[in-house]
Amino acid sequence: MKVVLYMAITANGYIAKENNETPWSDEEWESFSTKVKEIKNIVIGRKTFEIMEKGGEFQKIDNPFTVIVSNKKENNSNFVNSPEQAIDLLKEKGFSEVLVAGGGILNSSFMQKGLVDEIYLDIEPFLFGKGIKLFADNDFETKLELLETKQLSKNTIQLHYKILK
Ligand SMILES: NC(=O)c1ccc[n+]([C@@H]2O[C@H](COP(=O)([O-])OP(=O)(O)OC[C@H]3O[C@@H](n4cnc5c(N)ncnc54)[C@H](OP(=O)(O)O)[C@@H]3O)[C@@H](O)[C@H]2O)c1
Repeated sequence: MKVVLYMAITANGYIAKENNETPWSDEEWESFSTKVKEIKNIVIGRKTFEIMEKGGEFQKIDNPFTVIVSNKKENNSNFVNSPEQAIDLLKEKGFSEVLVAGGGILNSSFMQKGLVDEIYLDIEPFLFGKGIKLFADNDFETKLELLETKQLSKNTIQLHYKILK
């Protein structure tokens, strides 16, 4: 199972403002949507799920098979309790790739458990003094190999990395 993490970030590594606002560009959204439509699933944390549901964002990305990670017990088979369970569920459903799509707490636990194979970072032309980090504080260190860079627009660059294991 190939696990791909895809995030839009500020030039200093934030994925949202403290109030959850994300002022990302149309080009970034387009690139993210294309990746979701290719992989056809996403794994997200409970908080990101609630924000996306409220914003009607699932329809805009063609309603991928969505797995929500949460510690809470929910009467919904798409809710799981850990990153490993998310991967197992998608395996069971016949997927060979997984798209991890935030937020910072979920991203961090996938990294800490060594489950991620590739990362896409779309670097948007912003700096935030505070906000939600790409990876919530956690104890891990990872070496990367740069696979590709792509200019998504005049101001937005995409970095595509492989995680070296
Ligand atoms: N820039 C981007 O591309 C991008 C993408 C996605 C999201 N975002 C932003 O990210 C923000 C949300 O990020 P966040 O870090 O605050 O929250 P989050 O990671 O979306 O959700 C956190 C919640 O997910 C559950 N969770 C995460 N990891 C878990 C694990 N290993 N085991 C069990 N449960 C786990 C827990 O839910 P319970 O509390 O239910 O236990 C936790 O409270 C929002 O502002 C959103 O807009 C940005």
